Amino acid sequence: MASVTLSNIVKRFDRTEVVHGIDLAISDGEFVVLVGPSGCGKSTTLRMVAGLEDLTSGEIRIGDRVVDRLEPKDRNIAMVFQNYAIYPHMTVHKNIAFGLRMAKLPKAEEEKRVREAAQILGLTDLLDRRPAQLSGGQRQRVAIGRAMVRNPAVFLFDEPLSNLDAQLRAQMRLEIKKLHQTLGTTVIYVTHDQVEAMTLADRIVVMRDGRIEQIGTPTEVYRTPASMFVARFIGSPSMNMIPGRVEAGEIRFDGLPPLQRPGGLESAGGAVFLGVRPDDLKVAADRPAGAFAIEARVEVIEPLGPDTLVYALAGSRELVAKADSKVTLHRGDVVTLVADSGALHVFDAATEQTLRRQEAR
Ligand SMILES: Nc1ncnc2c1ncn2[C@@H]1O[C@H](COP(=O)(O)OP(=O)(O)OP(=O)(O)O)[C@@H](O)[C@H]1O
Ligand SMILES: [Mg+2]
Repeated sequence: MASVTLSNIVKRFDRTEVVHGIDLAISDGEFVVLVGPSGCGKSTTLRMVAGLEDLTSGEIRIGDRVVDRLEPKDRNIAMVFQNYAIYPHMTVHKNIAFGLRMAKLPKAEEEKRVREAAQILGLTDLLDRRPAQLSGGQRQRVAIGRAMVRNPAVFLFDEPLSNLDAQLRAQMRLEIKKLHQTLGTTVIYVTHDQVEAMTLADRIVVMRDGRIEQIGTPTEVYRTPASMFVARFIGSPSMNMIPGRVEAGEIRFDGLPPLQRPGGLESAGGAVFLGVRPDDLKVAADRPAGAFAIEARVEVIEPLGPDTLVYALAGSRELVAKADSKVTLHRGDVVTLVADSGALHVFDAATEQTLRRQEAR
């Protein structure tokens, strides 16, 4: 196992710079997820760690070794891709053992490692099958097995689950998490799926346009996003954003009642966005004192089982809120949406940076 340290990593393709100086220190045994929209540089960053792309400048260390000039096979890493590319003409056994071909291990040691990996991944009874005789999830496990037998210091995953259907993806996600708990190997995992990031990561790295926007635990990026970008990207449905202006003692909104200026708001004035997560905005029977409250007209109701998403219009602004599934709502109902004032975020409209974070709880 090993730590991984990226220092001021820059990547240019011809004249286009796509990664603009990334610093990231990953601890030994940590599970770090790089997440962000398409084209933000996640795969390029991972491929530089793997040695599949050269750095334009900067330095990568795995453990205390600078690996920038090392071939991929000498970096003690194993990578699992989206198109896991297992060989159709080989059995599961041969496919897993293929990961050891470079290592030229004694036959007995090879057999032992293949058996161990198959055991952990639940493939023992399938070792003689060919990929065409496996389900998508089983094939994905073969690809992971092939990486596992090499006992790498670091696992690199690039969207390993995106070819699977939703149910299988949730199942494999759990298996990858268990695998990490069993092996304790350092993992760098790339995805554009914020749910995958939230559920798997010890720490999430939110990327945007070749830069790191925020690094934090899942709870930190969810509860205390550093910017509007992070606030919108993490969490589903996205955080409600209401444009307003900070005046002396309050925040004023078009067509909504003003809000008493929340404590901890540093900015003296100017345009802001008030952010409130659908999870924190509740359809309420009454109007508790001190809470942020808006009247709104119900437009669309989405029952999710345990609770219900309510899309409602406050003036001309659509807001998403949560209601208890036991509350009966109809389109056209006028309801009160309330949020605890501690659950409100305020962003500077010009810089899109957070001015006031949600209070810890
Ligand atoms: N070989 C290349 N030559 C030129 N530009 C490239 C090359 N590879 C990637 N890029 C560009 O670099 C940027 C980052 O690409 P990258 O593949 O790292 O994105 P990503 O975050 O993994 O996106 P996705 O979620 O779509 O996989 C993109 O704008 C892409 O077009
Ligand atoms: Mg990618």
